[in-house]
Amino acid sequence: MTTKVLFVCLGNICRSPTAEGVFRALVDDAGQRDQFEIDSAGTGSWHVGEAPDKRAQQACRAHGIDISGHRARRVRAADFDHFDLILACDEKNLRDLNDMKPDEAKADVRLLMPFAGDPADRVVPDPYYGGPGDFENTVARAYAACTGLLRQLKKVPAT
Ligand code: 4NP
Repeated sequence: MTTKVLFVCLGNICRSPTAEGVFRALVDDAGQRDQFEIDSAGTGSWHVGEAPDKRAQQACRAHGIDISGHRARRVRAADFDHFDLILACDEKNLRDLNDMKPDEAKADVRLLMPFAGDPADRVVPDPYYGGPGDFENTVARAYAACTGLLRQLKKVPAT
């Protein structure tokens, strides 16, 4: 059984493709690629079909992560039945997801950052109107949260 994880932000060009790329890299490093299905999407539709923001691509590339192949898409109703975990980058994303979630849908919809374990860090701030440091901060937060997430979800083979 794979665990299906969807990362969500507003535009799906900065934060959520970064989190997707970071989580994919951590899962690959752990040799658990076949255990997970990983994707990202946005609550907004302005950037649908676009590659990730160049600044997000650059910040990820500095960590050896290539997110250039992603194409932005919007969250759809079927995601709430397909994915086990839908992880929002900020409180507005979380509210929008809860508003969209069909009754009886299976997905567990939550904030991403609490997986990092620091109660002071609730959200991944939107870097879109920021500078390179804000994109680096996005990557750092994605690492902190995705490391905690993988630790929690990691499947230990039966001995
Ligand atoms: P993201 O960043 O939600 O992390 O992908 C943004 C991308 C685009 C916009 C806002 C945030 N925008 O307003 O177009």
